[in-house]
Amino acid sequence: MQVWAVTYDASAFTDQIFQNGLLLLDPDSQARIKKFYRREDACRCLIGRLLPRMLLKERGVTRSAMTFASTKAGKPYIASTTPNLNLPIAFNVSHDNALIAMAFGLGDHEPPAFQVGIDVMKLEIPPREPFPQFVRIFSEQLTALETRTVLSVPRDEGIRLFFWIWTMKEAYTKALGLGLGFDFHRIEYNPQTDNLTVDGKIPKGWQLVKFEIDHQRDTYYGVAAKFVGGDETRILPRSSQGADWLLHHDAASFVSEAIKVLE
Ligand SMILES: CC(C)(COP(=O)(O)OP(=O)(O)OC[C@H]1O[C@@H](n2cnc3c(N)ncnc32)[C@H](O)[C@@H]1OP(=O)(O)O)[C@@H](O)C(=O)NCCC(=O)NCCS
Repeated sequence: MQVWAVTYDASAFTDQIFQNGLLLLDPDSQARIKKFYRREDACRCLIGRLLPRMLLKERGVTRSAMTFASTKAGKPYIASTTPNLNLPIAFNVSHDNALIAMAFGLGDHEPPAFQVGIDVMKLEIPPREPFPQFVRIFSEQLTALETRTVLSVPRDEGIRLFFWIWTMKEAYTKALGLGLGFDFHRIEYNPQTDNLTVDGKIPKGWQLVKFEIDHQRDTYYGVAAKFVGGDETRILPRSSQGADWLLHHDAASFVSEAIKVLE
């Protein structure tokens, strides 16, 4: 499994890059992106849709042969059937604030969307409140053990643990293609021991990669999940520095490159 990450900096992302990037997409994606009120949201969505297109381009698929579809629960997948694409590709996208990331790998289980998922979140540790509002809201989705784990350490560390729990749950359920449609109480993750259970049992055959990405003054936490088969489940904390499993692009250069190669 690999990850491509794109970080967005509004000052470098010109209107021309945005407009030309938009033209590379299908009419439905264009219409969705144009509906966003905030430019930042529109850019995140645009980049999220260009990421799998660039992946297909790298595999020799021409833009006219690139087609995408979504499952009933909304998970996008590659629908292109072209002789160039002799091996199916699994991908999933996540975006938060200035980071857009795509996990991908060989599509080998549960076609057509396959079992790969990713979730990224900007780590937010507000200076004063006892616990940030969103932690209180999301806490309803935690199990008793997860809540105890978050509360058993000093506040800032508890918030960090909360982010690992949340991104783990989201990545896993996005891999299943259900997202929040899967009861989060059924998944229990202890970030201190890296123990993950679903319905009380360790799920078999998963690879779960935990990573951090720094952008400007912010840190993002991410988890990429893929069902790889076999009996083992491995949770791998991975460094994003100089890593070959992670490619980091800046948004303006990424979209400019997409315009060059996809047009
Ligand atoms: C999809 C969902 C997981 C997104 O979570 P999020 O943390 O807000 O957003 P992320 O940035 O991590 O992911 C968004 C991306 O996930 C992908 N996605 C959409 N639906 C998905 C699904 N069911 N499974 C996996 N990935 C999905 C899309 O690429 C989406 O990008 P886009 O919004 O730009 O099109 C969440 O909104 C959700 O669970 N939606 C409801 C699904 C549902 O209602 N299911 C019930 C019926 S079974």
